[in-house]
Amino acid sequence: MAAYIFDKLRELEEKNAYPLHMPGHKRNIRFMPYDFRLYDYTETECTDNLHMPEGIIADAQNALAELLGADSSFILVNGGTSGMIASILACCDPGDNVLVAANCHKSVYDGLIMAGVNPIYISPSITEEGLCGGISIRDIFRAFESYDIKAMIITSPTYEGFTCDVRTIADIVHKHGSILIVDECHGAHFVFSDVFPPSALSQGADVVVNSWHKTLPCLNQGAVLSIKGGRTDSIRIKEAVSMINTTSPSYPVMASVDYARDLLSRDKNLFSSYIQVLKDARHELAHCKTLKLVNDSIKGQSHIADVDISRFTIMVRTDITGMDLSRILLDKYNIRIEMAGLHHIVAITTVADDPKGIKRFVKAITELDKKYERKFIEKIPISGLSVSVPEMTPRDVYFSGKETVAYEEAPGRIAAASIIPYPPGIPLVPMGKIITGENIESIRQLKAVGISVIGAENGSVAVVKKADK
Ligand SMILES: Cc1ncc(COP(=O)(O)O)c(C=O)c1O
Repeated sequence: MAAYIFDKLRELEEKNAYPLHMPGHKRNIRFMPYDFRLYDYTETECTDNLHMPEGIIADAQNALAELLGADSSFILVNGGTSGMIASILACCDPGDNVLVAANCHKSVYDGLIMAGVNPIYISPSITEEGLCGGISIRDIFRAFESYDIKAMIITSPTYEGFTCDVRTIADIVHKHGSILIVDECHGAHFVFSDVFPPSALSQGADVVVNSWHKTLPCLNQGAVLSIKGGRTDSIRIKEAVSMINTTSPSYPVMASVDYARDLLSRDKNLFSSYIQVLKDARHELAHCKTLKLVNDSIKGQSHIADVDISRFTIMVRTDITGMDLSRILLDKYNIRIEMAGLHHIVAITTVADDPKGIKRFVKAITELDKKYERKFIEKIPISGLSVSVPEMTPRDVYFSGKETVAYEEAPGRIAAASIIPYPPGIPLVPMGKIITGENIESIRQLKAVGISVIGAENGSVAVVKKADK
């Protein structure tokens, strides 16, 4: 017998790899100086009720709203996932058209199914080196001119730390009487310093979801949904948040968000010294040519408005892949990063990082940069969809029969699951769209250059069963 999960975590604890990944507390006791066991409570006469807050939870939410500049903020204990689903359920009615940035997270696709809405997908631009960028303002105009749109959903920042021009997008959305929902799950820290991109709420977004556990010292699942500006129905938001979050909320998770908010608002030095460490690290990494840090120079390209300096997105311009680099960092330097793609890696830092850990990463990258010769990386053969409407809604796809078919049999069939090359993480074929012969050719080309294509494994794809079957 074994306690499988526990034993593995114990083993990881012993190996003690430096965590350049989520959750943002980095297991740093300085930022979480309490014993969770003692604070695992249920609703009692004095611990308030997340679903009807009137006491300490109401106070914590009000303090969050004040910090974030929101009309109201809601603590989520089921992660940013629950916030994205709740936003869609609260802002849209079944059958409404929703303009959705195609690079959105799984939770958005799940929300579209649950709400029974009609998505119109808009593809972000792709950078020269194959990463997902921002969304073209011209494409957004075009979509609003062509369709009656109830709400727009964007992801800003992206996983790689790039933001969209939220201010301009919000202006267009509002001009058309629509609502802007921003998945800012990776940008919860933006409010703590203006060296980070401006928060989406400060740029006119109506609903914003932040996963505090990703980039702030909070326990996994701790997140916040905020609304501002009066375009949303706050009662419906409250109902939807309540529907998607457990009735046994974790007090340690809620308390970790509350504690982080209080600590980081009071002690401004914590962020200022962390930012100095970031600036020094980025300055040193700027000398690397083979392992190239994506920096501010990308602003303005591919509709990228700003870059989050807390995130080290590094292009791997040599014979090894991002996955190889990730393995080398772990095996040789005992550093575990957040994510590796074919030609890039992403390392996440937060205010809870030990400066020595960040320095160790910088030393490792500068050493490895010297070891590998710089090579030209061929452009990844991906063409964007711009604005597209699926033939079947995600909800109809969800409730249909499905089967897998070989690539050769796929053209003309409706995709039962999105087919997503990563990077850049933008669906080549969103669920519900007819798969074309060209799509299959692209899948083959992408796989030939080593790109993983989610939803197109082992020479087959999932499609909706034909009605006569
Ligand atoms: C862009 C984006 N949005 C939303 C989510 C979901 O957030 P959570 O993990 O807090 O549920 C993720 C998770 O990785 C994400 O990357």
